[in-house]
Amino acid sequence: MFVRLVLSVVVVGLSVSWALAQSYSGNTKNGERIFQQHCAGCHGTTGDGLGPEIKELIVPPANFRAPKYRTKTDMDLYLGIKRGVLFSPMHGWADRLSDQEIRDVLNYIRTFAPFNPLG
Ligand code: HEC
Repeated sequence: MFVRLVLSVVVVGLSVSWALAQSYSGNTKNGERIFQQHCAGCHGTTGDGLGPEIKELIVPPANFRAPKYRTKTDMDLYLGIKRGVLFSPMHGWADRLSDQEIRDVLNYIRTFAPFNPLG
């Protein structure tokens, strides 16, 4: 009985995490287009944080190639894009990009910064 309970909890847990992983699935190709159009000015065409607009910024844009961004979860980055970062030129994009577009661009950023919790 107890073993069954444990097993079913594990199965439910696995399917929930699978479902969550799926819900973030975005289209990388479309994400690249969005990134080059809206984000590269600050974050650089290669995601290194060296876009042409940085001269005017007080806070430097995120360099997605830095190890720090590998330790951020999809959720951290997703919320950063959606809501922006407080007291920084990184405003939220919820009013300009659809949820699907935010997922697409997140997938593209993950190509520079694959999630690796050990940095
Ligand atoms: C006006 C310049 C500018 C533009 C345009 C811009 N960003 Fe940013 N972004 C920043 C800055 C500056 C930071 C760093 C904020 C900080 O660390 O305080 C940042 C940080 C981030 C972060 C990290 C959030 C975190 O949790 O640390 C993500 C993700 C991000 N930007 C994604 C994007 C995406 C996607 C776009 C395009 C849709 C975009 N940015 C457009 C300036 C910009």
